[in-house]
Amino acid sequence: MRQMFNANIVADFAQHQTPFYYYDLGLLKNTLDVCNSAAAKYNFHVHFALKSNCNKTILDLIKSNGFGADCVSGGELIRAKEIGFLPEQTVFAGVGKSDSEINTALDLDIFCFNVESVQELFVINELAQAKNKTAGIAIRVNPNVDAHTHKYITTGLDENKFGINMWELPAVADALKTCKNLKFLGIHFHIGSQITDMNVFKSLCIKVNEVQNWFEERGMPVKVINVGGGLGINYHQPDAEAIVNFEAYFKIFNDFLDVKPGKEVHFELGRALVAQCSSLITKVLYIKNGKTKNFAILDAGMTELMRPALYQAYHQIENISKTDKSVDTKYDVVGPICESSDCFGKEIILPETHRGDLMAIRSTGAYGEVMVSVYNLRPAISFVFSD
Ligand code: LLP
Repeated sequence: MRQMFNANIVADFAQHQTPFYYYDLGLLKNTLDVCNSAAAKYNFHVHFALKSNCNKTILDLIKSNGFGADCVSGGELIRAKEIGFLPEQTVFAGVGKSDSEINTALDLDIFCFNVESVQELFVINELAQAKNKTAGIAIRVNPNVDAHTHKYITTGLDENKFGINMWELPAVADALKTCKNLKFLGIHFHIGSQITDMNVFKSLCIKVNEVQNWFEERGMPVKVINVGGGLGINYHQPDAEAIVNFEAYFKIFNDFLDVKPGKEVHFELGRALVAQCSSLITKVLYIKNGKTKNFAILDAGMTELMRPALYQAYHQIENISKTDKSVDTKYDVVGPICESSDCFGKEIILPETHRGDLMAIRSTGAYGEVMVSVYNLRPAISFVFSD
């Protein structure tokens, strides 16, 4: 088992102002290597979902390991370009792309727009025509497959705002006949995030095959099959399972997707690539022993890591200052923000904890730093890299 912290690292942390995001670049590099070799076995293309982490050092490493970019805003498209992700490896999704964002993507000559409504097809066509360009597009289909994850990160059900419903596909085919500045490349799906039940991906494959047949029966060849991201990680055992089982994940798509020669299979992974390589390091400001509870009050709050407050998400919490773990006490581990939802965990068993102890909130590399907020005029978050 790989441990993220040792005495030297903890001693080094004492030199830095808390709170900060700590990134273990060695672990990130290993994760990227494992993912790359598992995907290469089937010739799969992997784009990194920038929405999960936009830190420039992290992006540099991901880009230099050959990944493409999956963007959801004009800002992310520009960041991807600055980092050097190739336009021909860049895709752009988003249920509400503004005209200016679409123009940015057209100017960058990105590979593919993942289009989320019939109306959006006409808008991209019009803007492309004005620039005398042809935009590559994939149709994001909402397959009505339950991702069995938190409802706020479920995106592939009829009730969700994302993608185009199956019953709208005839309107898509009609629109594409008239949109001369669009090139139909294929189909796109993304049904949710933090998916740990691999059967969900099998169900997705079956729907993808159906949609692929639907288009091909109408004389519209599907070259690109983009199945999105969503692969979940083990938040409960970050050291025991520091790298997810990419082999098993890609094998499902190889076994269940109908991929004829000449077709490309694309993925948009975020969390599975970056979540485990980071921890939020924070200091205990106060210990408050209440009538029924002990509180450990940290100098990081929901402003620095929003996931527990927003999705009741679990993150492992460790007191990394204490080497003697023998005296166990239960604490509600909370932040300093004036909101009761500003809580990282309830009744967490920790060694007896004191003011000044350093705590690590684990598995924060995905949707951690990117979701930091300035609520309460909190100062900008800083970060420390393992090298
Ligand atoms: N592709 C699309 C179209 C997406 O919407 C997303 C994530 C991804 C790919 C990457 O998904 P991943 O592999 O990271 O699961 N803030 C939430 C997660 C929101 C995910 C949004 N979409 C959280 O902290 O859990």
